[in-house]
Amino acid sequence: MKSTAIKTRSITKYSISIFLFFLLSFSYANAHQAGVATAHPLATEAAHQILRQGGNAFDAAVAATAALAVVEPASSGLGGGGFWLLHRAEDGFETMLDGREMAPSKAHRDMYLDKKGNVILGLSINGPLSAGIPGVPAALAHLAANYGNLELAKSLIPAIRYAREGFAVDSHMLDLIKFRQQALLASPAAAKIFLIDGKVPPLGHEIIQSDLANTLQMIADTNGKGFYQGEFANTLASGVQSAGGIWQAEDLINYKLIEREPTRGEYHDLRITSAALPSSGGVTLVTMLNILEGFDLDNASPAQRAHLIVEAMRRAYRDRAQYLGDTDFVKVPIERLTNKFYASGLRSSIHPNKATPSSLLPTVVSNTGTGTDTTHFSILDGDGNRVAATLSINYPFGSAFMVPGTGILLNDEMDDFSAKPGITNVYGLTGAEANAIEPGKRPLSSMSPTFIEDDRNIIILGTPGGSRIITMVLLGILEYADGGYADSIAKLGRYHHQYIPDKIIYERDTFSAEDINQLKKWGHTVEQHSGTYGNMQVVIVDKITETVSASSDPRKGGEASVK
Ligand code: GLY
Repeated sequence: MKSTAIKTRSITKYSISIFLFFLLSFSYANAHQAGVATAHPLATEAAHQILRQGGNAFDAAVAATAALAVVEPASSGLGGGGFWLLHRAEDGFETMLDGREMAPSKAHRDMYLDKKGNVILGLSINGPLSAGIPGVPAALAHLAANYGNLELAKSLIPAIRYAREGFAVDSHMLDLIKFRQQALLASPAAAKIFLIDGKVPPLGHEIIQSDLANTLQMIADTNGKGFYQGEFANTLASGVQSAGGIWQAEDLINYKLIEREPTRGEYHDLRITSAALPSSGGVTLVTMLNILEGFDLDNASPAQRAHLIVEAMRRAYRDRAQYLGDTDFVKVPIERLTNKFYASGLRSSIHPNKATPSSLLPTVVSNTGTGTDTTHFSILDGDGNRVAATLSINYPFGSAFMVPGTGILLNDEMDDFSAKPGITNVYGLTGAEANAIEPGKRPLSSMSPTFIEDDRNIIILGTPGGSRIITMVLLGILEYADGGYADSIAKLGRYHHQYIPDKIIYERDTFSAEDINQLKKWGHTVEQHSGTYGNMQVVIVDKITETVSASSDPRKGGEASVK
């Protein structure tokens, strides 16, 4: 009897241990739901599909990157680049995959200037001469091989299906086709896919991309290598050369995906992790937050608050123009620019109710850009792995040049270099020596995939929008600091100042008429944007309740979902 009792107790204890083991393993594997927010419902679905099949956030990021290349071809693609900010849950490791384009070996600093030294308009925006060597295919392979649970080929399946079977054009894409119709017409391969007999297609038109499906399948079959060497790479190089470009087959062989230490900062009790150079996003963001930390924004009036934020933007964007570039080529004073003492100096030059004319700060001139390109997605899996990725081919449809037989639209990221010191790019951004063109160098970017963390929540966010990306992320962080959450961060009214041009651009309904008058009285030039801008994708996990929230910018047709 006694022995039976002991046996029963030990069996019970054993059963409880087994039960607890399974419960813990189960709860570890499904600690919380997964959240995905991307700029297109089909990309969100692709990411969830891969998560359901046992993929982690990194596999889902492969699926979303490839899907966006197919269904949002105006914004990113295999012919472009990007930054993937990663957090691995099991050991807290964080890194940024730098898949930014590299300047071809035959690029040189005056390549967009005429004999008189003037910039030739359009040369760095349209056609193959504007394209850097793409990094997206290398990043897909690197993500899958080093961080994913699944084979690259498996995570590419949804994108290959979308390319082969087609998808319906939405109104956002239609607007961008109209905007780039002339440039697309110059490339017969691109015009064949995105136009019908040279005309803009109707809403809902099915876009089938068989060449792109074959290229994605080749990438799957060769684990990404086939893009950068052999027959396919030769096709890319000769296709570019026969249309007037300068790519060499060796430029593709020499492309390097780089892992970089993210840029970090703190704003009150928030820990910020964002992009490293060659994105200016992290450094510029940290400079602005450091300046603002010394102001009592909570008790400022709306106009006062906007004034202080704008003055922080002005100063950080001046430094961006002056100092930032690819750290593999130039020395950038990152320590100084992200230091809180340095920010105190900048803060002390801000008058509480008077705009500082940008002309009183050292450096150059410009106009403003459209900011409609690029894409961002945020992914959190059930284990807490996360990815914030901002990807681009630069201008809508990039260079608008498609290499015949490949389905690949090339980027026009070379325009993110400063073609000539002091001369502005398509976003009205100015630059100095640090961002001059050199073979193998990466153009300065504004893409700012970002994590924000405090004791309660982890936020994954980012947005497209050219030069305005960094100020949108800043406003998102300040909204969270003010008690906002996923939906309010995504829909928040936006305003922007980038030092040059010396004006505040704002979205309708962001400021009251009274605040606008006040800002004008304080010496600001204020201009309402003609429409909306940005496409913010936010995922938040509450660490205490393990509740996941996600939101896709209501301005565009993206989709956020928690499953
Ligand atoms: N091409 C936009 C950016 O990298 O900022």
